[in-house]
Amino acid sequence: MRHLAKFMAFGTKILAWYEQHKRDLPWRIDKNPYTVWLSEVILQQTRVDQGMPYFKRFKERYPRLEDLANASEDEVLKLWQGLGYYSRARNMLFTAKYIHSELGGEFPSSAKELLQLKGVGEYTASAIASICFDEVVAVVDGNVYRVLSRYFGESLPINSTEGIKAFKELANLVMDKNQPGDYNQGIMEFGSLQCVPVNPDCSSCPLQNGCNAHSTNRVTELPLKLKKTKVQTKYFNYMVIIDSNERIVIEQRKGKGIWNGLYQFPLLETSEKATPFQIEAHIKTFPYINEYELSLYNQEAIIHKLSHRKLHTHFWIIQLNYPIEKAIPKSQLTNFAVPVLIANFLKAFKIY
Ligand code: ADE
Ligand code: SF4
Repeated sequence: MRHLAKFMAFGTKILAWYEQHKRDLPWRIDKNPYTVWLSEVILQQTRVDQGMPYFKRFKERYPRLEDLANASEDEVLKLWQGLGYYSRARNMLFTAKYIHSELGGEFPSSAKELLQLKGVGEYTASAIASICFDEVVAVVDGNVYRVLSRYFGESLPINSTEGIKAFKELANLVMDKNQPGDYNQGIMEFGSLQCVPVNPDCSSCPLQNGCNAHSTNRVTELPLKLKKTKVQTKYFNYMVIIDSNERIVIEQRKGKGIWNGLYQFPLLETSEKATPFQIEAHIKTFPYINEYELSLYNQEAIIHKLSHRKLHTHFWIIQLNYPIEKAIPKSQLTNFAVPVLIANFLKAFKIY
């Protein structure tokens, strides 16, 4: 409750700012859900100034939902050309046809129902519900993340699960409940005109007093975003060494990493797909192997995806015609914890 006055002030300030600075945009003429939907779908991938000509072309060519519903996909895609993400155009046409023929041309009026439409995500559903039907539901887009993060000093990463949840809650808490549509458009407009990503002019900002990032000198720092580590491709070659008693060699994985402590077949990591020659050279380094018969279990790499690794895996079967001490009877393999990748192999290889 301590912050309530500040939260209320925020919504009121955004509304006041919006009243003074809002741009005269063609989809703001009325609260027609068809028009608002069209504009929001287009604006999801472009800035207002770039999206404007597209909006105008669509609105001119298809003034009403019914006109879009009767359009051909080729024509819609042609008009969409240059915007990218063509599935959005296809989904838009699908949804226009659906509303026209299945819903009698009436847009659903709640965010929950709107969310059921193809191509309509949380952002678009909230935008349409608040702007056209006065539903008290906050939109959260890139502008909203930035403004909230700076004004309230929220430093959770905007692309983390925790951050996404926190920002959504904050957005709904601080929004103006009496004019949700204007408030939502106001905060987005404020983010695109005043609280811009790089070098916002804080000295001219009417929200400066009350802005946490400004008073703590963190404007350039916020919002925080986790760096997505690039997905690395690795080539894993597991050596499935089987002796004359059908016993198999496994060893414990040492070092750091998510599989630390788990068991695996001896592993050779290579920078590219390994050749049999490389494998044979590697086998020579095992002191307990003399003669052997080598075969490749899977010609096609088994792809295993981890959060920032993509493993191309091959299992090489190394059959020995003599016993070795180090190996473990097949029947005992189930007692060892192994990565899923290996468990899948054991199943397919009829060991489990
Ligand atoms: N960006 C996307 N939709 C918007 C809207 N309705 N107002 C301002 N900025 C936006
Ligand atoms: Fe954004 Fe600066 Fe205004 Fe704070 S003072 S809301 S950082 S423009």
